[in-house]
Amino acid sequence: MFRLIVVLIWSVAGGLSAESERTFPPGFKFGVGTSSYQIEGGWNADGKGESIWDRFTHQHPEKIEDRSTGDTACDSYHQWRRDVEMIKELGVDIYRFSIAWARIMPSGLSNRVNEKGIQYYNDLIDGLLQAGITPAVTLYHFDLPQRLEDLGGWLTPDIVQHFLDYANVAFENYGDRVQMWTTFNEPWYICESSYGTDGLAPALNFPGVADYVCGHNILKAHAEVVHLYREKYQTQQKGIIGISLDARWVEPASDSFDDLEASEWSLQFNMGWFGHPIFSAEGDYPQIMKDRIGNLSAEQGFKRSRLPSFTEAEIERIKGTSDFFGLNTYTLRLASKNDEQNSANFEIPSNDHDAGAVLTIDPEWPSADTDWIKIVPSGLKNLLNWVKKEFDNSPTWVTENGVGTAVGTVDLQRVQYYNGYLNAVLDAMEDGCDVRGYMAWSLMDNFEWRAGYTSKFGLFHVDFNDPNRKRYGKMSAKVYKRIIETRKIDESYLPQPDVVISEARIHSSFSLSIILGLFAVFLLSCLIFKV
Ligand SMILES: *[C@@H]1O[C@H](CO)[C@@H](O)[C@H](O)[C@H]1NC(C)=O
Repeated sequence: MFRLIVVLIWSVAGGLSAESERTFPPGFKFGVGTSSYQIEGGWNADGKGESIWDRFTHQHPEKIEDRSTGDTACDSYHQWRRDVEMIKELGVDIYRFSIAWARIMPSGLSNRVNEKGIQYYNDLIDGLLQAGITPAVTLYHFDLPQRLEDLGGWLTPDIVQHFLDYANVAFENYGDRVQMWTTFNEPWYICESSYGTDGLAPALNFPGVADYVCGHNILKAHAEVVHLYREKYQTQQKGIIGISLDARWVEPASDSFDDLEASEWSLQFNMGWFGHPIFSAEGDYPQIMKDRIGNLSAEQGFKRSRLPSFTEAEIERIKGTSDFFGLNTYTLRLASKNDEQNSANFEIPSNDHDAGAVLTIDPEWPSADTDWIKIVPSGLKNLLNWVKKEFDNSPTWVTENGVGTAVGTVDLQRVQYYNGYLNAVLDAMEDGCDVRGYMAWSLMDNFEWRAGYTSKFGLFHVDFNDPNRKRYGKMSAKVYKRIIETRKIDESYLPQPDVVISEARIHSSFSLSIILGLFAVFLLSCLIFKV
């Protein structure tokens, strides 16, 4: 209740400011996103092969916060028609989803294509087009076929050819209708979290070495797939192809030279790692990465840099291989220099240590229920300006942005988040950033990787106790719909969700059942002891 009052006061104040008169230009597109493992379920349905996430959740339930799996998830493998309905209800132009590689090629290899898997995405794509929604497809969103991981996954250069075979099947089957392709979702997170630390599957935890090998192969795999699309498909199919990089804005902790440098280094070791080879005029890794990792490797006794190097031909081959800059972002951090005076206990070697920056959080920043997310919209504006400066104002799409909240449909925190961050997109556009579209994450509550189902990112609530995984529009879904319809942000608009499902109600019905239970025990003992 207190929060509601705060929001109401805040909204009225916001409503009085001139900001709400700004509009998104006519060509600006809105979308909403999901990914295969997080929503589909049907983990072994109709011939689908095992992915690294199937293996990981089955073998290591202790690594998932609520010991859950994506075996059923939102059951979109069966409920996709409802998904299309919801997407249509939102009024978005675009639905961004990913293909589960192992669903269409069970072992990941080229010898067998699973027709039922091909059919699933054909049906979904046709359903979207009939509803007037443009499908935007991500080829890789974390769920590698397990058999390819057995071969070394993203650590072996062989993966480039396998990824190319897979992309070829996708373009051949879906390219006539798909107008926007993304090769990789969040390569930084894939390499740091899957290979550098004990994070995403397969959680190899080999920092400062395996992560850079992963990045090297991903950059090559990305470039080959883009060349394939451009040479064989793009003229006929007329789509665009690119990559989505994840980043958090990194604010200098003070205006000292060291902290400014730490902020810049941190951005370079995160977004620059993948952005510079693809989007900069000169190509290759950022100079600061080559210098620092080279120097530190020598100090650490390595015979050569832990950062692999590209040949001149490879640099040329990778440069320019993206029709758009996809940006996934949720939050921000403060950076200060990691030196003798201010040194953090990083693993050595590691990407964090190589970056030379200590990242912290300003306690003044409002926190989301999902506590790694601090809600500071100017972070998005600053990040978009950094992309503009660093990558020659490449056409940019915000391909993921959103917030994790507690369960329920009265999601004021998400409403505030979207109002704030969409205002930041307008700010960035006023600064001259070439932002073409914005895709909210996510369509509905789903399997949030290591957090399982404890962290809710959806515009729609999903009842995970219902075998049909019934979905209900949250307050934020109505707000997002209104923004798309009117093309402006009205902070005073606080509509009712489809059904009021609140954390409080779930708690109070829980306490009610405890009271009823105790009462039943009391009655029963009265009967037994005849008092
Ligand atoms: C790397 O080492 C060289 C040679 O000692 C030095 O000149 C350079 O400043 C170092 N670069 C970085 C980024 O540490």
